[in-house]
Amino acid sequence: MYRVVEARPLADRVHALVIEAPHVARNAKAGQFLIIRKEPGGERIPLTVSAVDDDRVRVIFMTVGATTHQLAELQPGDTILDVAGPLGRPSEIPSGETCVVVGGGVGIASCPILARTLREAGNRVIGILGARTAELLILEDEMRTACDELYLATDDGTKGRHGFAADVLKEVIESVQVDSVWIIGPAIMMKVTSEVTRTAGIRTWVSLNPIMVDGTGMCGSCRVIVNGEVRFACVDGPEFDAHGVDFDHLMQRQRFYFEEERHALEHHHATRCGCSGEERHG
Ligand SMILES: Cc1cc2nc3c(=O)[nH]c(=O)nc-3n(C[C@H](O)[C@H](O)[C@H](O)COP(=O)(O)OP(=O)(O)OC[C@H]3O[C@@H](n4cnc5c(N)ncnc54)[C@H](O)[C@@H]3O)c2cc1C
Ligand code: FES
Repeated sequence: MYRVVEARPLADRVHALVIEAPHVARNAKAGQFLIIRKEPGGERIPLTVSAVDDDRVRVIFMTVGATTHQLAELQPGDTILDVAGPLGRPSEIPSGETCVVVGGGVGIASCPILARTLREAGNRVIGILGARTAELLILEDEMRTACDELYLATDDGTKGRHGFAADVLKEVIESVQVDSVWIIGPAIMMKVTSEVTRTAGIRTWVSLNPIMVDGTGMCGSCRVIVNGEVRFACVDGPEFDAHGVDFDHLMQRQRFYFEEERHALEHHHATRCGCSGEERHG
């Protein structure tokens, strides 16, 4: 059993949990993820390592379906049945480069640990955070500390530049010699944003989030296509060369269990609060 030591909302439908998990915290590196199972018979869900501190690990998640809604109800002192990890390959960290870390939406969760790791390895780090609206721009202070420079963008112009993170990235690579870029966010955002660096020939990594089940390379559910080859995101990734990723295939597979997920969420709402599940819950 793993004890929750901190649980707090960060924004609308976005929550942070700090969990006591010494074996994970001591070994986790930027780019890796955990698989969490809240209770016996519960779904196993992958969440990125957002921060580590002594024997604690932080995850940040958006409530999208039944399991993330259950996690959002946890309070300090509650326990989680399984925290498996760290899983996946750590980010490949260069040194002496100018690196850009672009986070979109809840993908921002994994940006500070990556930015910090890059900086500690002697890189100059430029951060770009993008979200739909100001309230969803999480972890701004942590990123300001972790990066040499930080730019913000919101779709509705309520904070930072009015526009997308991709627009800011375009301006940055036009004004600075950039060596490597990481883009972490929803699949469509990673697809669009990585086009900015394709023509400039800048090495670009994206962190892929296909459906995962076992997280150990055995079940095949997380298969993605990169440079025309099948790769398993849980063991070969989750970070891959952005310019080789077949994003349309990824997005199609992410919708594979849509009906089952909808039923599970309706069941969660019906049993927990008696509503139809069509309302939004934080
Ligand atoms: C390596 C990795 C790291 C991730 N890190 C984060 C994170 O830090 N924060 C965050 O909010 N989300 C993260 N996700 C996505 C997160 O795992 C899903 O949001 C979660 O599993 C949804 O579960 P649910 O039961 O609440 O929703 P469901 O109703 O079951 O699903 C809602 C949507 O979530 C996705 N999803 C569902 N089950 C899985 C699964 N087993 N594996 C992957 N995706 C799934 C699908 O796109 C689905 O349509 C990550 C996914 C991967 C693969
Ligand atoms: S999650 Fe099963 S092979 Fe990757």
